[in-house]
Amino acid sequence: KFKGVIFDLDGVLCHTDEYHYLAWQQLAQQEGIYFDRLINQRLLGISRSESLEIVLERAGRTYTQAEKIRLAERKNELYRQYLLRMTPADLTTGAEKVLQTLEAAGVKLAVGSSSRNARFILDKLGISSKFQVIIDGNVLQHSKPDKEVFCKALAALHLAADQCLVVEDAVSGIQAAVSAGIKTAGIGKVIEQTAVDYTLHAISDLLPVVLGTGSQRHAF
Ligand code: BG6
Ligand code: MG
Repeated sequence: KFKGVIFDLDGVLCHTDEYHYLAWQQLAQQEGIYFDRLINQRLLGISRSESLEIVLERAGRTYTQAEKIRLAERKNELYRQYLLRMTPADLTTGAEKVLQTLEAAGVKLAVGSSSRNARFILDKLGISSKFQVIIDGNVLQHSKPDKEVFCKALAALHLAADQCLVVEDAVSGIQAAVSAGIKTAGIGKVIEQTAVDYTLHAISDLLPVVLGTGSQRHAF
């Protein structure tokens, strides 16, 4: 039914969304800035520098551009401490079988992520070779909710928007897919926050959706 699937990475194929939260939390604490999981929700899918701007909304003072660059670097250093410990066991439960089954069925697979750490994480998970296309934060001018990441993925996959499905855990990611004209499958909290074409309670729910062996459209 779908010829290609474009996966978000953080929060979809692995739980690095939690590591992002912990690293921002540590940075905010060091700077004496209030931060919580609700604020963190707004950071999902958007770039590191845009995330920092949101974190700094609660700061008691203004930061210079040079200070902001250093803060973003410090956050990434904290975050990378978690990434270093990742192994293939950190793949989302069921994801390996999903990737294998889709690959065997001839479905083209891509990653569409705002992260500059995407390739490092995919290598840690041992799944880099599963994807024909990896579009990450290093090649993007605009991060989600801009459609750029998914337009670039479609072009590299040589597929049209209506032949693909995007799998996302972030509102910004769903918005990006919608503006690229691609159908969406939502996993996690995002399905309570915005309309998606398909609701995934687990990543394995993707198989009937992509292979056309079941239907479960979701109205918000
Ligand atoms: C996205 C995450 O995948 O990547 C965001 O959902 C994160 O929370 C963004 O800010 C950028 O990640 P990185 O690894 O380049 O700091
Ligand atoms: Mg995500």
